[in-house]
Amino acid sequence: MRARRAPEAVTHAPTIESLLDEERSFPPPPAFREHALVRDEGVYEEAAADPEGFWSGLARELLWTRPWGKVLEWDPPHAKWFVGGRLNVSENCVGRHARGPRRDKPALVWEGEPGDERTLTYAELSREVNRMANALRSLGVRKGDRVAIYMPMVPEIAVAMLACAHVGAIHSVVFGGFSAQALASRIQDAGARLVVTADGGWRRGNVVPLKATVDEALASCPTVERVIVLRRTGKDVPMAPGRDAWWHDVVPQQPDHAQAEPMDAEDPLFTLYTSGTTGKPKGVLHTTGGYLTGVYATTKMVFDLKEDDVYFCTADCGWVTGHSYVVYGPLSNGATVVMYEGSPDFPDKARFWDLIQRRGVTIFYTAPTAIRQFMSWGEEWPRRHDLSSLRLLGTVGEPINPEAWTWYHRAIGGGRCPVVDTWWQTETGMIMITTLPGVDAARPGFAGRPFPGVEADVLDEEGKPVTSPHEGGYLVLRRPWPAMFRTLWNDDARYQSEYWSRFPGAYFPKDGAKRDRGYYMILGRVDDVIKVAGHRIGTMEVESALVSHPAVAEAAVIGKHDAIKGEAIVAYVIPRGGAQVSEQELRDHVVKALGAIARPERVIVTPDLPKTRSGKIMRRLLRDVAEGRPAGDATTLADPAVVERLRRSFGESP
Ligand code: WTA
Repeated sequence: MRARRAPEAVTHAPTIESLLDEERSFPPPPAFREHALVRDEGVYEEAAADPEGFWSGLARELLWTRPWGKVLEWDPPHAKWFVGGRLNVSENCVGRHARGPRRDKPALVWEGEPGDERTLTYAELSREVNRMANALRSLGVRKGDRVAIYMPMVPEIAVAMLACAHVGAIHSVVFGGFSAQALASRIQDAGARLVVTADGGWRRGNVVPLKATVDEALASCPTVERVIVLRRTGKDVPMAPGRDAWWHDVVPQQPDHAQAEPMDAEDPLFTLYTSGTTGKPKGVLHTTGGYLTGVYATTKMVFDLKEDDVYFCTADCGWVTGHSYVVYGPLSNGATVVMYEGSPDFPDKARFWDLIQRRGVTIFYTAPTAIRQFMSWGEEWPRRHDLSSLRLLGTVGEPINPEAWTWYHRAIGGGRCPVVDTWWQTETGMIMITTLPGVDAARPGFAGRPFPGVEADVLDEEGKPVTSPHEGGYLVLRRPWPAMFRTLWNDDARYQSEYWSRFPGAYFPKDGAKRDRGYYMILGRVDDVIKVAGHRIGTMEVESALVSHPAVAEAAVIGKHDAIKGEAIVAYVIPRGGAQVSEQELRDHVVKALGAIARPERVIVTPDLPKTRSGKIMRRLLRDVAEGRPAGDATTLADPAVVERLRRSFGESP
């Protein structure tokens, strides 16, 4: 058994400053509130009194081709929403806007890293999606088939996702930073028939060789019949005859119209793989009607989205934020979405601010790790640009420290924009805890309140609610919500045991939390998942990658506090009987197995690890060593001298 992090362990001892921070409160600015879509506190009570009525009111704003019968069928832990209803997600996100007054409204405003630009109106996006849908069908893709998407952040990634939705194929987007092995295991688990990729993408002036990675992955993916390759960088890539086809050879000549597949509300829309407590990533499955209702409603209400907004979310479509809040949420609302391909410091550290100024961005949604990076680069970068178009800021992915929150509010928001701190997960599909910017005061450090219709709680070890605002506990969600994941792909047993068994009747997201006057402060993960630059990395996955190296006997991986990334990966490795292996080689080995996003910051090769007499590795002590703290209680160690030896190895430069 591995030690779980108790909520107390993630509650860092409060300093006087952070206690003062917790008292700060930023009510909605009157000028914002006056025009806000939601101004009335009553929305919370109404939704709580009749959650099904609340959600179905929002669902009715979407386009259904057959009405639903029952709103919710709840057979814990399995939910069905809008039972019997039919709709198509692509029709809701694109088709209906392209046929109406939004026809010539920009849907995607895209900038490539090298400086190239493209804008697609709703009519143009619809044409692209329909052609791609026809191309998919012409290559044999049918409703229920799985399609893997491994692409840079170009308009075609959204086109590919929407085209899958159009024909009823289940997409599985894999982030372009994952390795060939990681891509292969996701393709195999999903049993994908087709892969959409590109010759490469741009990142910090370099080409990310996506096609080469696909070729390597496909050597072990027999289910894949066809590959569509977008030309993005123009670099030469080998094309496998009979398998690979260029996008420009199979898409543009297709007819502009494709019949949208009528989808049942509970038909799958996509799977997205995410890290958990074991070495095997899980395929989180989202369905059609409930998911779209949840992301539609939260985009509209949390971001106070209006017709003339210019909305910019910096997430990559390889993560859930890119699914829910770059593609499906904003487009179902008919918004103008700004999309950017590359790195925020290319060609210089003002790239985002320049983009915001030129495009007149009004809503900006990013991650705490990015905000801390901007802070470290200095306020002179945003100060060179006119950011007065901004009216709302958002953050997601990990807890935001109050210093970063206030910097964001002041340096980017000019002190006038509400900041929404949004807590949610790949599994929840939609924002679950936040503030409604025209209703609620923001309190730095607190994500906010459960979204209307959502019911949360904080429980102690025994499952009893924690009532003191000073005590941490386990966050749970009590009531089904429309965008909840329905199961794990091919593994419903794991769905039940991982999420629904710890606290019977409640969903356990594996975060610690504290609650004060109805506001939730998220304290971070209580399982073996760490958040590196906002990305979920399972420590077990990194451990498995390390022990797959022939020179490694045993590995223990922990997250170490990092001022910018939130956490950084540190690995302790025991070599196999006298084997010689360098820190660099092991780092490269992890990158090969999982991808650059899982590269350990340090790998300490050590003859022994701190273990209890029963042989359990004491990860708490490994964190103490990595963070340079005096080691905590080590009395249960079999050999107390180990910690001192590790401390010395840690001090040696890599
Ligand atoms: C963390 C990202 C604090 C949390 C959308 C959660 C947050 C995990 C916040 C999910 C926030 C996300 N405040 N922590 N506002 N948002 N988290 O699946 O630990 O990549 O369980 O989804 O990120 O990460 P995931």
